[in-house]
Amino acid sequence: MDSTILEKRLARERAARSEAERLLESKSAELYESGQELRKTAEELVLQSSQLSAILDSALAGMCLADKDRKIVRANAYVHRVFGYGADELCGRSLHDIFDIGYIKSVQAIGFESASLSDRTGDEVEGYAKDGSVVPIELSASEMFLDDQRYTLWIFHDITKRKAQEAEREQLEEDLRQAQKLEALGILASGVAHEINTPVQFIGDNLRFLEDAFSELFAEIGAAGGDDTVADGDDAPPREADGNTGTDSSEVDYFASEVPEAIQQSLDGVSRIAEIVAAVREFSHPGTKEKSPLNINTAVQSTVTLSTNHWKYVADLNTDFEENLPEVMCVPGEFNQVILNLIVNAAQAIEGLEASEKGAITVRTKCIGDQVEVTVSDTGGGIPSHVQSKMFDPFFTTKDVGKGTGQGLSLVHAIVVKKHGGTISFRTEEGVGTSFFVRWPIGAGEETRNVA
Ligand SMILES: Nc1ncnc2c1ncn2[C@@H]1O[C@H](COP(=O)(O)OP(=O)(O)OP(=O)(O)O)[C@@H](O)[C@H]1O
Ligand SMILES: [Mg+2]
Repeated sequence: MDSTILEKRLARERAARSEAERLLESKSAELYESGQELRKTAEELVLQSSQLSAILDSALAGMCLADKDRKIVRANAYVHRVFGYGADELCGRSLHDIFDIGYIKSVQAIGFESASLSDRTGDEVEGYAKDGSVVPIELSASEMFLDDQRYTLWIFHDITKRKAQEAEREQLEEDLRQAQKLEALGILASGVAHEINTPVQFIGDNLRFLEDAFSELFAEIGAAGGDDTVADGDDAPPREADGNTGTDSSEVDYFASEVPEAIQQSLDGVSRIAEIVAAVREFSHPGTKEKSPLNINTAVQSTVTLSTNHWKYVADLNTDFEENLPEVMCVPGEFNQVILNLIVNAAQAIEGLEASEKGAITVRTKCIGDQVEVTVSDTGGGIPSHVQSKMFDPFFTTKDVGKGTGQGLSLVHAIVVKKHGGTISFRTEEGVGTSFFVRWPIGAGEETRNVA
C-alpha cells in the first residue's frame, strides 16, 4: 500500500480516536455530574425523610396510618408513648388493638366521602394501652391514597389530663354544693331551734298551769267528798261555814274557761312543731341526689316555713300557688336550696333598707308550657346595674363579712341552668324591689304525672 494512503488513514484514525477520547471525557464528566446530583438528591431525600420522621415523632398528636384492612403501617412516637408500645411494635397490628372498634366501624360506615364525616372529627372515644388500661382520647380520621392504595389516617390526642381536670372541677362544684347545703342547714337549724322554742315554751307554761289547776280541782273535789264523811261521822259544821273549805265556784268558773284554752293552745303548739319537723324532713331529703318527681308547692311551703326566722322580723311573706301543678323532675334538696337562697336574699334586701315598716316577700308558682316557674319578689332596694352583671359570679357579694359569701346566686345558677336545664332571670327597679324568676323543666327528659 502506498505510504501516503497509509499516513492518511493513520491520521484519520488518530482524529477519530481523539474525538472518541474527547467524547468519552465529556460523557464521563456528565456522568460524574449526574452522579453528584443523584447523590445530592439522595442525601436530600434522606434528610427530608429524617426531618419528616422527626416532625412526626415530635408532634403532640398521635398519627397512625392504616391500610384498607385496618392494619397499622406507620405510627408516630406519640402513639407508641401513649399506648406503651416499643418503637415499631405497632406496625402490622390491627387498629382495633388501640382504638374503640365501634368508633372505627361507625366512621367507616359513614364513609369518608360523606359530608357528615366532618361531624365525626374530634370525637371522645376509648383508646387501649398495651397493659390493657383505657386511655381517653379525642380521635379524628381522614382518608388518603398512595400509589392507588387506599389508606386511613387516624389522628388523636390523649385527653386524660383534661378529663381529670373536668372530674376535679365537677368534684369541686359538688363540694361547694355540699358546703352550701351544710351552711344552709346550719342557718336553718338556728332558725328552727328558735321557731320550735316558742311553742315549746308556751306548751310548758300551759302544762304547768294545767298541773296546778288539776291539783287544786282535785283538792277541792277531795275536800268536798271529805265534808260528807265528816258531816256524817260527827256533827261538825259544813265546810262552807268556816270559809276555808268547800268548792269555790268562781275558781271553778275560772278553770272552766282557762283549761280548754290552755289545752287548745298546747295542741296548736304541738301541730306547729309537727309542721316544722315535717318541713325539716321535706327540706333535707337525706341522701336523695337523684332527680325525682317533686311536688313544688309542698317543697316551697316547707322552705318558707323553715326560713321564717330569716324574714319574719323584716317582712310579711305571702304565697300564691297555682293549684294542680305537675310534679317536676329535680333533685329535691337542690330545688329547696335555690328557693331558700332567693328568700334569704329577698329578706336581706328588705333588711338593707333599714325601714321602720315591714316589707313584703311574695313567692308564686305557676305552670308555663312544659315548665314550672317559681317567682320570688321583694320590696327591697333593687339591684344596681353595676351589681347585675356580676351577681351570678362565684364569691361576688355586696354584703358585710359574716353576712354573705357571694356563693348563693352562683350556686342557684349552677343548680338551675347546668344541673336541671332550667332558666333564671330577674326584673329589678332601684327603690321598688326585685323579682327572680326560676323556670324548671317539668320532665327533665322523663315522664311526669299530675298531682292533685
Ligand atoms: N333580691 C335582691 N335584691 C337586691 N340585691 C340582691 C338580691 N339578690 C342578690 N342581690 C345582690 O347580689 C349579690 C350576690 O348575691 P348572692 O346570693 O350570690 O350572695 P350573697 O347573698 O351576697 O352571699 P351568700 O348568698 O353567699 O350568703 C348580693 O350580695 C346582692 O348585692
Ligand atoms: Mg345570698
